[in-house]
Amino acid sequence: MERFQFARLLSTKYKRRGFLIGAFGVTGSIIASQWTHTRAIAQPSFSAYPFSLGIASGDPLPDSVVLWTRLAPEPLNGGGMPSVNVPVQWQVALDENMKNVVQRGTAIATPEFAHSVHVEVGGLQPERWYWYQFKAGNEVSNIGRTRTAPARDTRVAQFRFGFVNCQDWQNGYYTAYQGLAKEDLDLVVHLGDYIYEYGPQSGGPRQHNSPEIVTLADYRNRHALYKTDSNLQAAHAAFPWIVTWDDHEVENNYAGLIPEENQSQQEFVTRRANAYQAYYEHMPLRRLSLPRGSDLQLYRRFTFGNIAEFNVLDTRQYRTDQPCDDGLKPRCSQAFDSNATMTGTKQEQWLFRGLSKSQARWNVIAQQTMIAQYDFDARPDQELFNLDQWDGYVAARNRLLKFVQQQQPSNPVVITGDIHSSWVHDLKTDFNDPNSPTVATEFVGTSISSDFPETFIPPVVAALSANPHTKFFDAKNRGYVRCHLTQNTWQSDYRIVSTIREPNASVSTLGSFVVQNGRPGAEQI
Ligand SMILES: [Fe+2]
Repeated sequence: MERFQFARLLSTKYKRRGFLIGAFGVTGSIIASQWTHTRAIAQPSFSAYPFSLGIASGDPLPDSVVLWTRLAPEPLNGGGMPSVNVPVQWQVALDENMKNVVQRGTAIATPEFAHSVHVEVGGLQPERWYWYQFKAGNEVSNIGRTRTAPARDTRVAQFRFGFVNCQDWQNGYYTAYQGLAKEDLDLVVHLGDYIYEYGPQSGGPRQHNSPEIVTLADYRNRHALYKTDSNLQAAHAAFPWIVTWDDHEVENNYAGLIPEENQSQQEFVTRRANAYQAYYEHMPLRRLSLPRGSDLQLYRRFTFGNIAEFNVLDTRQYRTDQPCDDGLKPRCSQAFDSNATMTGTKQEQWLFRGLSKSQARWNVIAQQTMIAQYDFDARPDQELFNLDQWDGYVAARNRLLKFVQQQQPSNPVVITGDIHSSWVHDLKTDFNDPNSPTVATEFVGTSISSDFPETFIPPVVAALSANPHTKFFDAKNRGYVRCHLTQNTWQSDYRIVSTIREPNASVSTLGSFVVQNGRPGAEQI
């Protein structure tokens, strides 16, 4: 059914059922707002459907989730909202028809945050599905579904989640999200490159609608463009998401406050603040992640009963500059600098503390660039490393893998994005010694749509024999990874789509890999 028809039908239904809690006054009248100096319109009317960017939920806890939406009747042109606060009603129900409402309230959408709302709903029951919906003026959103985490001390028999990354609008349609939305999952994890910052490029099936983005308005419009995709909206509406970012949410291969090129550091500080604010405005994030100037707290931990704990990393905001002038090249001594860091010291210690204390069967490190070493040059006396990956931060990687070897947290599994291709690696204490212990497993998921140039494939394949800890590589396909965890096994299914050149596609499994409890390293089944 068409979304707008759907909204109208629901609008009628809700008037009957009394969604209008608090009975706002006459259209256009004004109530005082406690949030900002701006006063709020009590009963707004909109030039067009205001829920054009869909709805989302995220950061699930045993008793709480975040509900998200943004009012944007003109999504591609600043949102189209007047510079006033607007009340947005929300409600949470136990059923998909929103008959059995268990919580409701009103949030204030402010112009300062582009009329986005982030409702932290508490008092929910653990490990159960809920449905939610927003209403502003006489307009209602679609109904979304979300799920709370199991309580920390619960024994959980199985847990399913999908992970995704890298969705360059210009390179193709989000057919992978069409497939993902139909999966039976408890959670989706996004590992970054939710947007790309570039100007329009020809040759792909669709194009960006503005030059390279720099200002807050630019970043808002770019997020809005991406969020208009109906497959992406369907995937958000189907599951709670945990999101983290990579580089393109700001700029390709930035590191901390160091830009890639062509701008002063001061210009970049402002640009990063713009990008971070727009990211917050468009994601289902908690107050913890409110932007503070050019900073935003994104690394955080989620526990799902006794089966899984997710350590969600931010390897962009605190990292030191890429060594040896970045790129794909032999490593210079900077790549081994003990002060070089992907995470910053504080986040690294937070990660180590979390891994030490965890009671979970599977300890997930959700992060951006490949941790495993990969020498892209097959010749024995030559080397080529991607210095934006952990291969450029060798001492930091050694600290992490040595820690894992010594402390032996239960079943560490790294999930990774960034490289627009599928990989499975054994993570070893010494990648140059095939006989050294495997201490963890890494699953790298391919992109939703972003490109892996075909010309790069043969050299990577040729180098596989020189990297025996790499169990699997494929770069021809786009898709997502579906993970099924039990107390005994972790299975990752590499789900791929038949095309991204058209809006619809079929989904199939390219390969499945299993990790046994207590035995790091995956085997293909
Ligand atoms: Fe990417």
